[in-house]
Amino acid sequence: MAEVQSILAQYRQQGFALWPAFASDEEVVKLKTCAQLWAQRLDIPAHAHFATGADAAIRDRYFLDSATCVRGFFEPAAFDAQGKLKVPQPRAINKIGHALHLLDPVCRSWSIQSKVIQLVRLVGLVQPQIVQSQFIFKPPHVGGQVDLHMDSTFLYTDPPSCMGLWLALDEATVENGCLMVIPGSHRQAVPKRYVRRSDNSLTFVSLTPSPPHWDPKDCEPIPARPGDLVLLHGQVVHASAPNTSHRPRLAFVLHLIDGQAHWPTDNWMASPPILPLL
Ligand code: FE2
Repeated sequence: MAEVQSILAQYRQQGFALWPAFASDEEVVKLKTCAQLWAQRLDIPAHAHFATGADAAIRDRYFLDSATCVRGFFEPAAFDAQGKLKVPQPRAINKIGHALHLLDPVCRSWSIQSKVIQLVRLVGLVQPQIVQSQFIFKPPHVGGQVDLHMDSTFLYTDPPSCMGLWLALDEATVENGCLMVIPGSHRQAVPKRYVRRSDNSLTFVSLTPSPPHWDPKDCEPIPARPGDLVLLHGQVVHASAPNTSHRPRLAFVLHLIDGQAHWPTDNWMASPPILPLL
């Protein structure tokens, strides 16, 4: 129990904390197998990646609809100049989401187990609700950089209540793009929200008079072993580097909010796929 208290104290002070061996080896194997099956079987259109380009409206629609189902997204670097995949699909995927916690039995049963419920209650969520789930692949050589951001920008509530549970399914290191966090940055206000306009296009709306300055040099790496869980405050600033190694870096990620907080309907996810943790 003393160790749990020190994990929670670090989460409150720094905005993140690592819970070693939160998931058993058996749980890791089950989730990893589940991710690999989705990666092999999903029919993913070539436009499903996040590079900028002329087909933004089609990509936006595909992304918006992924809120309540299971869809895959490619790494832009997995394509050659002719627009063909350079590697087999399972090694080209950026992520699969966003309603695995509702629609996939393995993900669902992992997400609603009592140790997860106890954890989020200890953190302080009064009415914990899962609103998003993803397998994030960060494949070798093509896994791209994720820029500094707050998750509350994308899963905004009033007041902010988002938190992430980032479960390592492979070993995450500096070389293969582990999480990088600015300690203590969760004390800042949420600077912007990701919203859906009435025409279904997506944009950012500022919430603060000037954008904050975040310096990547202030980041601290969070290496993790398979089964380790990183607790991420929704306002902690974090990123990850490209995977320049030959080793995969798969993670299963849940995002939760407190049901007591207001969910604005112009969030990119207008009606989140809510799974209450009772
Ligand atoms: Fe994030």
